[in-house]
Amino acid sequence: MKTLIIYYSYGGNSALVAEELKKAADADVLELKTEDEKVRTGFAKYAWGGKQVFTHKYPELKPYTVTIEDYDRIIIGGPVWAGTPAPALQSFIAKTKISGKKIGIFLCHAGGKGKAMDKFKALLPGNTIAGEIDFVNPAKLDRAAVSLRIADWVGSL
Ligand SMILES: Cc1cc2nc3c(=O)[nH]c(=O)nc-3n(C[C@H](O)[C@H](O)[C@H](O)COP(=O)(O)O)c2cc1C
Repeated sequence: MKTLIIYYSYGGNSALVAEELKKAADADVLELKTEDEKVRTGFAKYAWGGKQVFTHKYPELKPYTVTIEDYDRIIIGGPVWAGTPAPALQSFIAKTKISGKKIGIFLCHAGGKGKAMDKFKALLPGNTIAGEIDFVNPAKLDRAAVSLRIADWVGSL
């Protein structure tokens, strides 16, 4: 089974998960990057990200090449922003046809994922959601424990 990991990460948490997933799943990896990669902190970061969510103005992504048809299994994830999957993930899904795939979804958040997982699943109709997992700011957790949890999860997909 050929697996592709697709992720977006603003602060490194989802990147860490993607790295561990790659080790566990022997997969190709596509990192989504936005054209506007300016580093923001504090209130400015939340205001900027929240605005994208509430206005549904999803960011332009840096060019990428991917042939979804080449893969049987797709693991896709990133951060929760204002109770939804980060807008960059939504930009990708809006532009890329993903159907008939086995899907694993991961989310990183700060403890308030709300309905983000349900919203994520709703963006991917016509696929089989084989598994879902979420992490509370994994960059702050014990790396070995995160790694183990990810390996277990990948094994269950
Ligand atoms: C604009 C913005 C909105 C956020 N909204 C939420 C939220 O609704 N719930 C939550 O638990 N965390 C929220 N967070 C925190 C991130 O989801 C969390 O820190 C995540 O681990 C970051 O992943 P990353 O480092 O891969 O970007 C938000 C962060 C940002 C920047």
